[in-house]
Amino acid sequence: MEIFHISAECYPVAKVGGLADVVGALPKYQNNAGNAVRVVMPCYDTKFKIENHFECVHWGHVKLGSFNFPFNILKEKTNALGFELYLVEIPELFNRKEVYGYQDDIERFLSFQIATLDWIIGREDVPDVINCHDHHTGLIPFMMLYCNKYEKLRNIPSMITIHNGLYQGQFGFDKLYYLPEFDLAHVNVLEWDNCINSLAVAIKCAWAVTTVSPSYLNEINYSANGLESLLNLVRYKSKGILNGIDIEVWDPDTDRMLEKNYSIKNFEKGKQENKEKLCSLFNLDPTKPLFSFIGRLLEEKGGDLLPHAAALALSENFQQINILILGSGNTTIEKQLNSLLQDYKGNYNTFIGYNEELAHLIYAGSDFLLMPSRVEPCGLNQMYSLRYGTIPIVRRTGGLKDTVVDFGDNGIGICHDQASVGDVCYSIQRAILLYEDKQHLNKIRKIGMNTDHSWERVCQEYIEMYKLIINKK
Ligand code: GLC
Repeated sequence: MEIFHISAECYPVAKVGGLADVVGALPKYQNNAGNAVRVVMPCYDTKFKIENHFECVHWGHVKLGSFNFPFNILKEKTNALGFELYLVEIPELFNRKEVYGYQDDIERFLSFQIATLDWIIGREDVPDVINCHDHHTGLIPFMMLYCNKYEKLRNIPSMITIHNGLYQGQFGFDKLYYLPEFDLAHVNVLEWDNCINSLAVAIKCAWAVTTVSPSYLNEINYSANGLESLLNLVRYKSKGILNGIDIEVWDPDTDRMLEKNYSIKNFEKGKQENKEKLCSLFNLDPTKPLFSFIGRLLEEKGGDLLPHAAALALSENFQQINILILGSGNTTIEKQLNSLLQDYKGNYNTFIGYNEELAHLIYAGSDFLLMPSRVEPCGLNQMYSLRYGTIPIVRRTGGLKDTVVDFGDNGIGICHDQASVGDVCYSIQRAILLYEDKQHLNKIRKIGMNTDHSWERVCQEYIEMYKLIINKK
C-alpha cells in the first residue's frame, strides 16, 4: 500500500510536541510492514535540514490569492528515517527557526498544503491513502474532494488523525480566495462557527477520523472546544487508536543519551547511576525520591498546578523529595516555577526550555513522572517513563486513562481524578510511601518495563482503517 503522511512536525526533523514523535515513528513501522510510506512536511530552517542531503524532485509556484510563492519538493536521499521523507521548501514562508507562532501561519500552512497537492497530482502514481495530521493539514481532504485542479485525487481516501482537538486553525472568510478554485455550492463545507475551521473541515471531508486514544474519542464528544456536535455526527467513521512509541529510540539498554544503559535485569543499579548524574547536574539529593515533569507548561497539561503543588509537596515533606521540571510555555507558569528555586535549593530545580537529551536522562534517572493533564489526547511521556522504569503519576484522562492503571488496582502507576493541587499532592504522598517499600516498587517498575507499547503492534490498526476506507471507494 502506498501511504502519504502529511504533517507539520516529524521527529527528528522538527519537533514541538508528541505529534513529531508519532509522525517520526509510525511511518517507519508501516514501512517495515511492507508498505511504501512517504512523509511530507514543510522545510524549516532546522539542524536536520543542514546536516542531511536532499535532491529536488519537483518545483513549482503556489498561488495563494494574489500571492505567488516558488516552492521545491526536496527528497532526503538516504531514507535515513526508515521511510521516504519529502520537505516542501517555500523559502519565503518557512525558512525560519520555529515551526509555529508566526502572524502568517494561515498563509504558511495553506501554501504548504497546496504545494503538496500540486506535487502529488503531477506524480505518475497517486497514493492509495493520504493520512493528514492535525489542523495544519486539515484543508487537504476538502481540496481533494472539491477543488477543480485536484480532480484526479477525488477518489483517493483521506484520513485525519486528531492529535489535539483544542487547536483548530480557524480563519475568516476574507481569506477564502486563497483556496484553489472550487464550485461555490460547497462553500458551506468550510464553515464552522462563522469562520473557516481547518480541523472541522477535515472532520467533515476525510473518509475516516482517528484520535490518538480510544478514551479521547469518547471525551471529545462532550468536550472539544466547540466541535462536539460535529464529532458526534461523524462517530460512524471515527476510531480511537492508541499511539505507540518507537522502542528503538526509547530503549534504556541502548539509549546513547543516558549516563548508564540498563535493562530489566539491572535496572535498579542503572537507574541509580542516571539519577546520580541528574542530581549532580541539578543540585538535587540522590538519596531521596525524584519526581519530574517533562512537557509544555500549559494549563492543558496541568502546568499551572505545578508551582503550587511543588511548593506544597516540598514544604510538607521538605527534605523528603526532589522535584525537577523540564519544559517551557506559559511565561507566568515559568516565572512561578523559577520563583521557588531559592526556597527549595537542593531539592528542587527547573530547566526552562526543551532539550531532547536531557529528557532521556530524566526518564531514566527519575523515580516518578508527573502528568496532571487536564486534556491528554494520548500522551507519550507516560509510555516512555514506563519503559525506563519510572512510575507515572497521571490524571485519569484521555490516553493516560488508557495506558496507566493505579497500582492499588494491580496497575503500574499512580492515578488521580481531578486536575487539582490537592490530588497531585495526595498522589505524591502515596508515591513516597511506595518508594519506601522497595520490593513493591521494583515489582511495579518491572511490570511497567515489560509492557508492550510498541508501534509494531499498533501500526496494524492504522492499516486496517486504511483498508476499510479504500474498500469504500
Ligand atoms: C499531542 C497531544 C498528546 C499526544 C501527541 C501525539 O501532542 O497533546 O497527548 O500524545 O499529540 O499524538
